[in-house]
Amino acid sequence: MTINTAPREERFPPPDFGPAPGVLPPEAEAVRGAGSLLAYARKRRLLTGAAIAVRAFEKDPALQQLVSEQFGILVPEGELKWRGLRPARDQFDFTAADALFPFAGKHHIQVRGHTLVWHNSVPDWLRKVPADSVRTLLIEHIEIVMGRYRGRVHSWDVVNEAILPKDARPGSLRKSFWFDTVGPGYIDLAFRTARKADPHAKLCYNDYGVETESAEDTERRAAILALLRAMKARGVPLDAVGIQGHIHANTRDAIGKGLRKYLAAIRAMGLDVYLTEVDVNEDDVPSDDVPARDAAVATAYKKLLTVALADPAVKLLLTWDVSDRRTWLNDGPTHRRKQPNRPQRSLPFDPEYRPTPAFFALRDCLDAAPKRTVHA
Ligand code: XIL
Repeated sequence: MTINTAPREERFPPPDFGPAPGVLPPEAEAVRGAGSLLAYARKRRLLTGAAIAVRAFEKDPALQQLVSEQFGILVPEGELKWRGLRPARDQFDFTAADALFPFAGKHHIQVRGHTLVWHNSVPDWLRKVPADSVRTLLIEHIEIVMGRYRGRVHSWDVVNEAILPKDARPGSLRKSFWFDTVGPGYIDLAFRTARKADPHAKLCYNDYGVETESAEDTERRAAILALLRAMKARGVPLDAVGIQGHIHANTRDAIGKGLRKYLAAIRAMGLDVYLTEVDVNEDDVPSDDVPARDAAVATAYKKLLTVALADPAVKLLLTWDVSDRRTWLNDGPTHRRKQPNRPQRSLPFDPEYRPTPAFFALRDCLDAAPKRTVHA
């Protein structure tokens, strides 16, 4: 997956939806309380939530209300990544991430941390640092960032997207900045440092491309399981495995046995599973008809969640953003190849904060899930 690598001028302009609604529409009011995702998840002792772009969220009272009614956990979409936090080597900017905690506390919402090591969030200044000091900087970074929020974070995606079989590196590791500078040991190092920096946070390895029966996903699942087993064998601290869940609406790739076996294998290792970034790219639905697109998206959510939530190892379900007013799938060009001028309808709420068919699919799938024995 290539994300955000296009030069700025090549990116698509964000769609203009006009100002955000000042208050929630009646359709959103109709699904609060006992009808909310939060309530449906709670009945099954699951936790449900979403990613948010903190700066926009701060200025949007209706979105804040929606989130407080629907979700039990939030994750900042970019504000805790290296690029979001560290404009320069000796400078941290915690203002956005800090702002989330009082809101979360007030509404009894938990916070996830995303992410301490990712190939796609390496600040330019860091690329210029001599390779032999990167290891020290990584340790320092984890200690400072996790230390700041110690005891207040549900779970951290310590390492994100470390596997890429086509790079043909040992262990199917991705050839990345971290691999090249610190070496293959960067993953163990990050997790060991993380456990010490915040012993209360669950430590998660997060990755994409494991959902379907495609040959590529099958290869990726095997590679990730091998990594997890090797980490466990080396005594590396690890609590959970994140499945991002970025899926497509109009794909022939089924979701079934492969994912089921993957979940069972992770459960057998004693680890939890988090669905960390679920959304549905509907760029590949040819029809412009909104009900048809919404139905295709809802069906895709159902396909993934019917399989995933059936496994009791799965404890968290987060979508990557809340409403179609803000989704990375509109940032393009990667995700808007086929319908460059059509804003995506990918999330449980539309740009006016009305629940979409995806919302009802999520709720139905939570309802059908077996009750967990312990809370996430
Ligand atoms: C994306 C954000 O949504 C964008 O705003 C940002 O520009 C790039 O990153 N997998 C991940 C997330 O783990 O961090 C990515 O988020 C989406 C893919």
